[in-house]
Amino acid sequence: MTRTTSKPDKHAAESKAKTASRGKKPGRKPTEDHVFYQLPLYYDIVFGSDVLAEVEFYKRLFKEFSTGKVRRVLEPACGSGHYMVLLGKAGFHVTGYDLSPSMVEYTRARIERAGLSKTVQVLEADMRNATLPGKFDVAINQINSLAYLKEDEEIVGHFKATADALVDGGLYIVELTLRCADFEKEHKVDESWAVERDGVRVAATWKPVRYDFEKKLRIVELTMVVDDHGKHSEYFETHELRLWTHEDIKRLTHAGGFDIIASFDCKFNPIPDGTCITGDTHEFPYFVLRKR
Ligand SMILES: C[S@@+](CC[C@H](N)C(=O)[O-])C[C@H]1O[C@@H](n2cnc3c(N)ncnc32)[C@H](O)[C@@H]1O
Repeated sequence: MTRTTSKPDKHAAESKAKTASRGKKPGRKPTEDHVFYQLPLYYDIVFGSDVLAEVEFYKRLFKEFSTGKVRRVLEPACGSGHYMVLLGKAGFHVTGYDLSPSMVEYTRARIERAGLSKTVQVLEADMRNATLPGKFDVAINQINSLAYLKEDEEIVGHFKATADALVDGGLYIVELTLRCADFEKEHKVDESWAVERDGVRVAATWKPVRYDFEKKLRIVELTMVVDDHGKHSEYFETHELRLWTHEDIKRLTHAGGFDIIASFDCKFNPIPDGTCITGDTHEFPYFVLRKR
């Protein structure tokens, strides 16, 4: 999960609909069980905005960096499946997987509604130990979902398993949020926005609260307020995410069998080789990894 400032297209709906900051409510304790990901409709309303431009960017990367024709795409942590359906409509065979059974169920229904069940499939699996059917030409992983893997061993294990599921020279494109030199910079980001769809209004606040340098974690609080056809509910939870440094990304991808062959900023422009990428210099960078 990433912040929602200045992200092109992907968070356009949210940017247009920003509300006043809601933030943490005094006296309330956040839960840590990520209820948000068990509520796929609300997730999709508030985070599932138009990603068409990003999918076009992926297609450009496939052409530019893949050594063979790209036909089969894998999407770990696929969430509500909006990328999968767009890629499926573009003619790719797509397999996505997610830890949350309700996300999987929602995505499966979405695939069926789109008439893509023959070429697009979704599975329930964990990035830490997924065993995947068949071989893929590329894999994609967006919006810092990889940061739900916190320990070096599980991150390397995920890269190794994904490399095994790719053809020789296959690509893994990952979008990550890197740490800022100074948490105070990130601390100022307290994003609140609301989106309404078909009588359901979801307001969310995504608020980084601190860095834990020792455990390499970025602690974020998420508040979500829902009005579902007049029925109100409210959720408040903590997300502990891996606090990425560029050095760690290089080290862990390499240990997992990949080389970083290119990086891009959130506007899809190349980042020159040799740049030290941080959260201060680049929001939401993409790393193009090639299986060695
Ligand atoms: C921020 S959402 C991103 C979903 C989708 N990629 C998107 O861009 O909308 C993160 C997703 O990661 C999933 N997730 C978290 N930990 C996971 C794990 N260990 N294995 C598989 N999926 C996981 C959550 O259930 C959630 O759907």
